[in-house]
Amino acid sequence: MNEIVRKERYSEQVFMMAISTPLVARKAQAGQFIIIRGTETGERIPLTIADFDRERGELEIVVQEIGKSTKVLGTMEPGQSILDVTGPLGIPTHIGKVGTVCCVGGGVGIAAVHPVARALKEAGNRVVSIIGARNRSLLFWEDKMRAASDELVVTTDDGSYAAKGFVTDRLKELIEPRATSREPRAGESGSSELEARSSKLDLVFAVGPTVMMRAVAETTRPHGIKTVVSLNPIMVDGTGMCGGCRVLVGGKPRFACVHGPDFDAHEVDFANLMARQRQYLDKERAALDAL
Ligand SMILES: Cc1cc2nc3c(=O)[nH]c(=O)nc-3n(C[C@H](O)[C@H](O)[C@H](O)COP(=O)(O)OP(=O)(O)OC[C@H]3O[C@@H](n4cnc5c(N)ncnc54)[C@H](O)[C@@H]3O)c2cc1C
Ligand code: FES
Repeated sequence: MNEIVRKERYSEQVFMMAISTPLVARKAQAGQFIIIRGTETGERIPLTIADFDRERGELEIVVQEIGKSTKVLGTMEPGQSILDVTGPLGIPTHIGKVGTVCCVGGGVGIAAVHPVARALKEAGNRVVSIIGARNRSLLFWEDKMRAASDELVVTTDDGSYAAKGFVTDRLKELIEPRATSREPRAGESGSSELEARSSKLDLVFAVGPTVMMRAVAETTRPHGIKTVVSLNPIMVDGTGMCGGCRVLVGGKPRFACVHGPDFDAHEVDFANLMARQRQYLDKERAALDAL
């Protein structure tokens, strides 16, 4: 049970693991996550279901090694079994037909945005995706995101691959093409290439580091574009009982594991979320040093 059937390393810190877990895979929907405990001494950690194959009973996770539990998971290989897999957890992303949707994935958030982009495209939306990472070595699934989208824009912060800059720079260009694209040359019509490709965005869906999701929210807020983010607070039980994942949305406390993880980005108190994410830093560092 919970056997690791494939593993692929994308960089020193990021790897994909496919797990055979038929009961979870059969019920998985875009936007949901699992909580896993790799070994007897491991912590329970939440990870987004990045892909699933209901017939084969497999799901894929993409993990960034940042602390003890993710590093221990990174040492596990095909043939070994994950001790427990709980899920699928969380409310699936609402997939409706709204028109043009921009799916934004940053870093390991690319994996989380993938099933959502695919489901939105299957529902008949025009999906323009923007994926980005700090540098080329941290980018993955460009092929899968291209297949899941009508159009894909790729960025790296340092310009080591594709367009240089942040995902929000490209998002701004989609929203305000006239302000950010080049002036038409003599003989051209008034619209640039980017302007021709873009249209009013009806929805933005973003997953990535909290600072990136906050920047996406601030980019779309002045334009009144509905924006949904998938939040990643510290989670423990994943069933709404411990309160660990409490976030403030619209001034009200919500538990991301059962009321989310998707929330209206313009209502999220990101400062509160970031403070809560940092509350165990000393203990996390000590656990890593001990490892
Ligand atoms: C709904 C959800 C989906 C996620 N999906 C992914 C994913 O697909 N891929 C991925 O690489 N990461 C994902 N994460 C983050 C992942 O859970 C943390 O990176 C992991 O728990 C870190 O554990 P650690 O022991 O390696 O690091 P630690 O050193 O323990 O912690 C490093 C940092 O990770 C965060 N963190 C620690 N423990 C938890 C916890 N129990 N729950 C949430 N965050 C924690 C904190 O911000 C902490 O400062 C997701 C988080 C949530 C809430
Ligand atoms: S993780 Fe315990 S209430 Fe959400």
